[in-house]
Amino acid sequence: MKHFKVAVLGCGTVGGGVARILLEQKERLAQRAGATIELGPIVDLFPSRSAERHGLDLSHYCGTGKDLTAEEATRYIRDILADKTIDLVVETIGGTSPFIVELAQDILKHDKHLVTANKALLAKHGKSIFNTATEHRRAVGYEASVCAAIPIIKGINECFTGDEILSISGIMNGTSNYILSQMEAEQRSYQDALKGAQDKGYAEADPSLDVNGGDAGHKLTILLQIVFGLNTGSADLSVRGIESITADDFEFANEMDCSIKLICFAKRDKNGVFATVRPMMVKRSNQLSRINGATNAVQLMNRYAQQSTLIGQGAGSLETGSAIVSDIVFIARYGEKAIRNPHMSDNKLRSFDELVFPYNITFETANIPGITGIVTTAIGRHQINIDTVSHNRYHASNAVFSIVTMPCTHQQIERAVAEIQGSHPNSLLADPKIIPILE
Ligand code: HSE
Repeated sequence: MKHFKVAVLGCGTVGGGVARILLEQKERLAQRAGATIELGPIVDLFPSRSAERHGLDLSHYCGTGKDLTAEEATRYIRDILADKTIDLVVETIGGTSPFIVELAQDILKHDKHLVTANKALLAKHGKSIFNTATEHRRAVGYEASVCAAIPIIKGINECFTGDEILSISGIMNGTSNYILSQMEAEQRSYQDALKGAQDKGYAEADPSLDVNGGDAGHKLTILLQIVFGLNTGSADLSVRGIESITADDFEFANEMDCSIKLICFAKRDKNGVFATVRPMMVKRSNQLSRINGATNAVQLMNRYAQQSTLIGQGAGSLETGSAIVSDIVFIARYGEKAIRNPHMSDNKLRSFDELVFPYNITFETANIPGITGIVTTAIGRHQINIDTVSHNRYHASNAVFSIVTMPCTHQQIERAVAEIQGSHPNSLLADPKIIPILE
């Protein structure tokens, strides 16, 4: 039987899961890969801590078990790159430092396959990494980079290959979904629910990338590469987080028979591809509204197969490890042809703000006669058709109400708001909150 040797760089949460599965499932994986998959050297700065945490034998690690200096780790990595018996390198160090960007390139240039969960790396440098892989006839496995255990990359690349994906809507960040679910189910404030997520170990001490939409943005950027062939950097994507979502927003959502979710959304129409990451009110008839806790889900609308929703775990040691090992098995079996590198154009993403959507707009106004009329008249003047106006809530002397629109663009709403602010400067007490409604 063919022999296939795998090195692991970085043995924290994800790398440890990979190593454990490779050891625990050795025989099953060999049958599936048609090759014995050997766990080769592991490089980690803290070998003893990593070995203990994952129940691994220290003999798998480079060095003597003592913590490594950065120089020592770099030397071991160089040895691995030079080792012709190693077929594939798993990069689970993470980040987008120049060292990591160069490392990903070097792995491929040394004719080794690369498997990674590093979404930020692929979102920012995907095109050049895939080009190097093609040049060196090596595969890049990145199933784990988007929603970890959900087989969305293989789903798109292998299962819907006879179809045309028209749109993607997904919950791609478990931490923010956990926070929003807690806010809704237990009427907790954002800060309180965030603390709960930290206590449970979902959110990092610095949860910024999870709650500000950055992490979800990297995942959507990768899907834009493979579904729509767009080499768009995350910087071009309109991304908003969940930090400003309040109990009032959930009340207004509930009145509309909606939940609130951080949604990754992309759609192609005759004018191009529109995409965004932002909180949306999701109609309860849509399955995404019922995805709670840290679970992820991705919904594809296909031209022929119609709608498919994949639901699963978007993080975790063995969950993410499972996706990485799946790539390893495919590559051991099929070599560089295992995973299709996306063909990317430099076409630009269209602004989501030009796309027609129903919206919920929440206004905080001075509690004065005629204010509802001022707001609704301006909205009508900008050709926005109103579906519903909510009851007022009162906070001290302010009135808060929401307007649900028929489909219109964000730009139309912005123009109406600018008109109100211009003609009645003291009437709006905060920038209105404009949240799309996903049906
Ligand atoms: N931190 C992410 C989440 C998982 O909460 O879903 C890794 O992208």
